[in-house]
Amino acid sequence: MKVLFLNGPNLNLLGQREPGIYGTLTLAEIESQVRAAAAKREIEVDFRQSNIEGELITWIQAARGVFDVVILNAAAYTHTSVGLRDAIAGSGVKTIEIHISNVHAREEFRHVSMIAPVCAGQIAGFGVGSYLLALDAALTLK
Ligand code: DQA
Repeated sequence: MKVLFLNGPNLNLLGQREPGIYGTLTLAEIESQVRAAAAKREIEVDFRQSNIEGELITWIQAARGVFDVVILNAAAYTHTSVGLRDAIAGSGVKTIEIHISNVHAREEFRHVSMIAPVCAGQIAGFGVGSYLLALDAALTLK
């Protein structure tokens, strides 16, 4: 099974960005935990980050026929991006929405997800655990 992890804007700053909300792990440290967990499950992983909405859209489009599942932390674009939603719907690739923080326990604008209706499901609030739980969720989608 091949899984593509995509990380949206500002997630390159994990570790230094609002650690009370997002924790102290860097994105590279999260990636290495994901890679170790994926290896145990015989899942092949690609792991990327972009601050650019269009780049995330291009990667989702290109996932068709290459990856079995996309695991997406769209970060702030979760709450705003019709473009990402249309890319997920059009890609035909099963997509899991993830968040480090519990977006439903935060500001009201974070309660809205533009992408949730076109995703298989959502995992939020478990820190790096959201990334690891999503790997097991991906296996159930196979
Ligand atoms: C986030 C939650 C979003 O609301 C926020 O804009 C982020 C990170 C999370 O992982 O908790 O940048 O997606």
